[in-house]
Amino acid sequence: MNFQLEITMATLSNNPVTARAHTNIALIKYWGKKDESLIIPYTSSLSLTLDHFYTDTTVRFDESLSTDQIIIDGQIPSEKSRQRVRDFLEIVRGKAQIAIPASISSTNHVPTAAGLASSASAFAALAASASKAAGLHLDATELSKLARRGSGSACRSVFGHFVEWQRGTNDADSYAKPLPDTGLNDIRVVALTVERGQKAVSSRQGMHLSVTTSPYYPAWVKTCQADLLQLKSAIEKGDFTRFGKISELNAMRMHALTLSADPSFTYFNGQTLAIMNLVKQLRHQGTECYYTIDAGPNVKVLCQQSTVAKISATFAQVLGDQNVIIAKPGPGVQYL
Ligand code: ADP
Ligand code: DP6
Ligand code: CO
Repeated sequence: MNFQLEITMATLSNNPVTARAHTNIALIKYWGKKDESLIIPYTSSLSLTLDHFYTDTTVRFDESLSTDQIIIDGQIPSEKSRQRVRDFLEIVRGKAQIAIPASISSTNHVPTAAGLASSASAFAALAASASKAAGLHLDATELSKLARRGSGSACRSVFGHFVEWQRGTNDADSYAKPLPDTGLNDIRVVALTVERGQKAVSSRQGMHLSVTTSPYYPAWVKTCQADLLQLKSAIEKGDFTRFGKISELNAMRMHALTLSADPSFTYFNGQTLAIMNLVKQLRHQGTECYYTIDAGPNVKVLCQQSTVAKISATFAQVLGDQNVIIAKPGPGVQYL
């Protein structure tokens, strides 16, 4: 026992460890947990990691501390957010068999809790930095399982480009895997920001309400499986039209679960609807593009390299340059 403790102590990093993870946009959405404690989803999901939005997180385990010190974007976050990080660190400490407090400093290069997947980049970066700082040497699959415990969508941000989270049934078999390279590498995502503030209903609360009160939830589980198979085939074939149609449809099916919950709620605001209409208008005029929306009012427009300049210019006229960001497929988690 003592011997094992010494080994663990010896491999614990004395230096701070910094990791960067990018956010991902789900094309087939994860919306509902079968196991809320382990974060095992009802359905598999599929995402694209984005180059533009990311989180940098530095962790150091420090015996001179009496409690965990947590700073996000230069500030002490809410008690709820701190508790979420502490709970996650407990998992890391348990795996590394240590009981040492940590200091964590994290910077989001993405608006926090605005439906732009800050929890995905945040917990992928925290999983990578904390596990390494604790002396654990996890491979990408183990890292994906660990990140999942912080936020479901984070298990996908361990990897770059197109990623599938295979739902599995338990802690050991629920993790993400990168999809093979495809003909859709010229995909672009135009992120339209209509709101940078924090949402009223977190993703966690929103999906819980949907699972427990929407009468359509069983239909969602069924349809998601079919949507996922269709999207994978569109990606394999490099068929952008099918890719866009299925992504848009799956996003709307997810949002139907919020509208049909009791009490009913929505992440859309007036601008969200106006942008959806504008995307359809562009499409009817021959500029092919589709929309997808996560748990927030901001919209992501899916298009290709050949149309991205025209589409971003159109939206810049309506929303202003600062609210239109062009993202490309991005890389997996990395140590800085
Ligand atoms: P989002 O759409 O941004 O993913 P969520 O409701 O899923 O919104 O998650 C937002 C929550 O994730 C925040 O309230 C906070 O608890 C946590 N979070 C966001 N960024 C960080 C970070 N850099 N480090 C630790 N936790 C974070
Ligand atoms: C709409 O991963 O943020 O973005 O697991 O409770 O942290 P928790 O939820 P989170 O939910 C993401 C919901 C979504 C769809 C998706 O990313 O697949
Ligand atoms: Co999130």
